[in-house]
Amino acid sequence: MRTTTLGSTGPEVGVIGLGCMGMSFSYDMETPRDDATSISVIHQALDLGMTLIDTADAYGPYTNEELVGRALAGGQRDRAVLATKVGLLNDSVEAANPGNSSPGASRDGRPEHIRASIDGSLRRLGTDHVDLYQLHRVDPQVPLEETWGAMAETVAAGKARRLGLSEVTVEEIRRAQAVHAVTSVQSELSLWTRDALAEVLPYCREQGIAFLPFSPLGRGFLAGRFSSFDDLPQDDFRRGLPRFQQDALRANLAIVGRVRQIAGRAGTTPARVALAWLLAQGRLVVPIPGTKTPKYLADNAGAADIQLDAADLAELDALPAPEGARY
Ligand SMILES: NC(=O)c1ccc[n+]([C@@H]2O[C@H](COP(=O)([O-])OP(=O)(O)OC[C@H]3O[C@@H](n4cnc5c(N)ncnc54)[C@H](OP(=O)(O)O)[C@@H]3O)[C@@H](O)[C@H]2O)c1
Repeated sequence: MRTTTLGSTGPEVGVIGLGCMGMSFSYDMETPRDDATSISVIHQALDLGMTLIDTADAYGPYTNEELVGRALAGGQRDRAVLATKVGLLNDSVEAANPGNSSPGASRDGRPEHIRASIDGSLRRLGTDHVDLYQLHRVDPQVPLEETWGAMAETVAAGKARRLGLSEVTVEEIRRAQAVHAVTSVQSELSLWTRDALAEVLPYCREQGIAFLPFSPLGRGFLAGRFSSFDDLPQDDFRRGLPRFQQDALRANLAIVGRVRQIAGRAGTTPARVALAWLLAQGRLVVPIPGTKTPKYLADNAGAADIQLDAADLAELDALPAPEGARY
């Protein structure tokens, strides 16, 4: 896979990474997960050059880091640019929700929590350092400078190589930068969630900060996975999201229909079109689509070779806004 650097000064990574959350968390809750297949998908990603591997202590919690740690054991660790996150606590699947309105979700940006958490992450991941340590959410109860100062200590201690933020404003990025370099910002960005295009992505471009779009396939919807609410597995996190409710989902199928048409013209798949549109936003953009399915992983990897023409990009830019809030 072609590569880029993670931000202007970071390590080389494949232009598309792998999000591991869904291997243990949020989606398909009732489906018995097959860890062996998930581990093979992580190896497949590394073989294909999708080297940025994203997890978080909140996923599970903890079990996703353990799974990634098992996948990277036995000589695989050095092939990955390993990214995890801290600062979001949860006792329910909804804690992955940036709206964070669920009573089960809370944030903890206290320096003592950061200092204690990195060692747990390293133990579960089976490594002595992570390549990117990300603050999952800013804690409104703790000055960001204090949280980020503790994150910077993990770099000074050699436990993390670089630091990233998630779901932040430009003002928050600036405040963090005044304390320690910000290598990356991870936020939702996709054909149906474009908020970051207004301010955050332009600021990242200006500053040479990597932008890592999460849920780049609209949680599977933009890849054409779902045509009705009933297609969603029982107990799946998406069943609670406004865009997946029956009426909204039906309306939003018009968006997928247009993506399918463009994919048809370009001789490719909807998932590849959705990812290629993100790659067209610039070399600092490294999407991290999530999958635990070998054929989807191969599909997503192929997006790196898709060149959408100007007419296709303009049509994608002009897609209507979705029905329903993202959370
Ligand atoms: N920073 C944050 O707050 C935050 C929040 C959410 C997510 N994330 C990160 O972002 C990553 C990706 O986001 P996400 O998993 O929420 O959403 P996503 O990547 O938009 O979509 C994942 C869903 O799409 C399906 N899928 C993947 N590739 C496909 C393809 N080519 N064709 C058809 N279906 C396909 C997956 O199916 P299968 O799983 O069945 O294979 C899964 O159901 C996560 O893994 C996590 O690392 C971060």
